[in-house]
Amino acid sequence: MKIYNEEKVERVLDTLHEDSKKDYLRIGKGLVKSIFRPMQPSDFEHAYLPISKKQGETLRDLIIENECKNVVEFGTSFGISTIYLADAVRKNGGKVISTELIESKAKKAIRNVEEAGLIDFVEVKIGDAMKTLENYAEPIDFLFLDGWKDLYLPLFQMLEPFFHAKTLIYADNMDMSDTKYYNDYVVRKQSLYTSQMIEGGKAMLTSLAA
Ligand SMILES: C[S@@+](CC[C@H](N)C(=O)[O-])C[C@H]1O[C@@H](n2cnc3c(N)ncnc32)[C@H](O)[C@@H]1O
Repeated sequence: MKIYNEEKVERVLDTLHEDSKKDYLRIGKGLVKSIFRPMQPSDFEHAYLPISKKQGETLRDLIIENECKNVVEFGTSFGISTIYLADAVRKNGGKVISTELIESKAKKAIRNVEEAGLIDFVEVKIGDAMKTLENYAEPIDFLFLDGWKDLYLPLFQMLEPFFHAKTLIYADNMDMSDTKYYNDYVVRKQSLYTSQMIEGGKAMLTSLAA
């Protein structure tokens, strides 16, 4: 078990962000596979598809400033975002439940979170989040959506009963067309939710309307 150390967290993150720069090669291979059929998460088994360092810092600040403890993540990949989330809940005395469909990615993420000394604050559920979170039953302080985009809305609706007055929802890749149904739903429910685009229009932050 690795011991927590702030510099170590930053070193692990820097190494992972650096390695993710080669994603263009991995994504290229994935796209070739999907020429003759719809794209699938397994086409990108070797790609990080991560948030940026700036987004990670925004996530970390939001969670710390709002004293969020119960954090749920949709889409672990190799754990870059999970490390930012875990580093924040470590300060708040909370926990991250993260979900990843592809077993090899989840296992690599667990190793990376261990390397950062943050595994005590993370549980990675392996499999389809619609199944692995089916029996989730705790209040959610912070929901981070970054898995397959057409599942943002069904996953959000499945977890909606666990939102409370201070819940925050950060949805990445809102510039991708498959997030349209999620966007329409949240924006239409103006009596319940207030949303703002952040990160130059790439992400949307939603809170419950006062
Ligand atoms: C954009 S990547 C996540 C990147 C990660 N949040 C980061 O910043 O490092 C999306 C991930 O969601 C996973 N995924 C896709 N559909 C899923 C599902 N139904 N349940 C759980 N994970 C899923 C993919 O395998 C992929 O690794």
